[in-house]
Amino acid sequence: MTIKQTLNSVCVWIDSTALSQAIQNAPWVVPTVQTVHILAIAALMASMLMINLRLAGVVGRDQPLARVSGRFSPVIWWMLPLLLISGIFLIIGEPARALKNNIFQIKMLLVISAIFVTWFATSPLKKSPAHWDSRAGLATLVALISVSLWVAIIFAGRWIAYF
Ligand code: HEM
Repeated sequence: MTIKQTLNSVCVWIDSTALSQAIQNAPWVVPTVQTVHILAIAALMASMLMINLRLAGVVGRDQPLARVSGRFSPVIWWMLPLLLISGIFLIIGEPARALKNNIFQIKMLLVISAIFVTWFATSPLKKSPAHWDSRAGLATLVALISVSLWVAIIFAGRWIAYF
């Protein structure tokens, strides 16, 4: 069996489950779950921007980076499970639309990359609050990569519907 055939069987199986049928038969479920997904994106993006703009030294230089990160990174780590759960609900409701879509697969790789870059930027600050002070150039580069990845995820998320 090829990967494509396996993916196809998985989609057919998910589609036949009671949960998928329930989601498909209640027209309010998908818009509600999408609303949760979008609200979580808003909270994550706002927090991600606060950290990265401070990391790049663009705003809030009167506030220590470790404090900005300590305040906003928990929001990112709490929103991710919410995005995962709401995303899984959207997949169960219409499995082939996401799982067979190349843009969805790229989006998942981007999510993993963005999580790694965010962890790379914020985790050293817990033990060493001045970690990035002596590495201003690298800090700006990391902030730029991080913002680009998160924005690319939004773009990919929207593109799934048109690909
Ligand atoms: C963590 C795992 C995630 C999963 C499994 C997931 C899954 C999904 C799925 C299945 C859709 C519906 C696409 C469609 O049918 O058109 C979607 C939409 C979307 N996702 Fe995610 N997602 C995840 C995380 C994220 C993250 C971290 C972001 C951005 C920060 C994001 C941004 C979006 C956007 C902008 C949309 C389009 C929303 C709309 O137009 O209603 N997702 N996601």
